[in-house]
Amino acid sequence: MKVLLTGGTGYIGSHTAVELIRAGYEVEILDNLANSKIEVLDRIFEIAGLKPKFHEVDLEDFSGVLGVLRNGEFDAVMHFAGLKAVGESVEKPLEYYEKNIGGTVNLLKAMKETEVRRLVFSSSATVYGDQKMPEKGLDETLVTGVGITNPYGWTKFMIEQVIRDFVKAEPEFSATILRYFNPIGADKSGLIGEDPNGIPNNLMPIVMKVYRGEIPALTVFGDDYSTRDGTCERDFIHVTDLAKGHVKALEKMRQGVAVYNLGSGKATSVKEIIAAFEEAAGEKLPVKYGERRAGDLAVLFANPEKAERELGWKTERGVKEAVRDTLRFLKNSQ
Ligand code: WQD
Repeated sequence: MKVLLTGGTGYIGSHTAVELIRAGYEVEILDNLANSKIEVLDRIFEIAGLKPKFHEVDLEDFSGVLGVLRNGEFDAVMHFAGLKAVGESVEKPLEYYEKNIGGTVNLLKAMKETEVRRLVFSSSATVYGDQKMPEKGLDETLVTGVGITNPYGWTKFMIEQVIRDFVKAEPEFSATILRYFNPIGADKSGLIGEDPNGIPNNLMPIVMKVYRGEIPALTVFGDDYSTRDGTCERDFIHVTDLAKGHVKALEKMRQGVAVYNLGSGKATSVKEIIAAFEEAAGEKLPVKYGERRAGDLAVLFANPEKAERELGWKTERGVKEAVRDTLRFLKNSQ
C-alpha cells in the first residue's frame, strides 16, 4: 500500500511516516516546508531505513497537487498539512480559512479526479468547544462546534464537515477523522521531534525553549482553576502512540466517514508536566505564574474507548516517557 502524507515533514506527519514505513507501507510526502525542514527526510531514513519521496508543493497549488496524485498511484492520503497556531489564527483569520480549508478542498478535488479514495484527516479535540466535561471524558457522540474560540479551531470543525459532505456525495470514497488531544514527545531515537519555526504556542515547545535558555521563564497561565493543583489539565499523548493510531485507522478503514478520538483518557496538569520535565532533566525550570489565557478550559481529556474498541488502539506510553524522549530530541538537535 502506498500512502501520500501532506504535511509529512511536520511534527505528527514525520512520526507517522516512520510508523507507516515500519508497518511496511510505501510513503511519499507532500509539504511546502512552511513549518518544517527538509532534513527530516534523512532522519526518517536513519530511523526507519527508507527515505520517502518528497514533493515540495503547496496545497494551494491545485495543479501541483493533482500532478503528485496523478503520478503516485496512491491507495490513501493522510492529510496533516495546515496552519495550527491558535493565537495567529485570531490575528490572521483569512489566511487560516484560505490555507486550511482551501488547501483541503484542493486536495479532495485532486483525489476525486485521480480516484484516490481513502483519506485520514488530522482533526483536533478543539472541535468539542467549551462544553461541560463528561466524567469519562469527551466522546465522539458529543455535539461539536459550540464554543470554539478561534479560527484555527473553526477550520478543523469546518473541514470535518467538508469531508462528510464530500463522502456523502461520492460514496465510493471513505474518510477517517482523527481528533488529537495534546501531542507531546518524540520518536525514541531522538532524531525527530517538535521543532516549530518562530515563537512556539504550545506548552511543551515553550518548556523546551525555556530549558535551552532561549526563553527566560515559563509563564503558567493561571493557577486558580478548580482542578487538583489549580493549573489546567490536558490529555497529553505521546506522538508515537498518535502515529500508531494513524496506521490502525488506515488498516481498519471502511465505507463512509468514521471519527475517533486519539487521546489517553488521562488528564495531567501543567504543574505535573513541569515536574515530570524537571525530574527527567535533573534541574529546575524558571517558572512564573501569570493570568489565565483567554479561551483555555480548565480540564480537557478524551474518552478513548471507541478507538480501542474499533481500531484496537490505545496509548502505551505515558507522560514520563514523552518527556524523556523530548529531552533526547533536544540534546540531539543542539
Ligand atoms: C496546554 C496547557 C495552557 C503555554 C492547543 C489547541 C489544540 C491543539 C493543541 C494545536 C494550557 C498551558 C501553555 C504556556 C501555560 N492544536 N500553558 N504556559 O491549549 O490545550 O491546545 O494546542 O495544534 O487545538 O487548542 O495546548 O499546549 O497551548 O496548552 O501555562 O506558556 O498549558 O494554559 O492549560 P491547548 P497548549
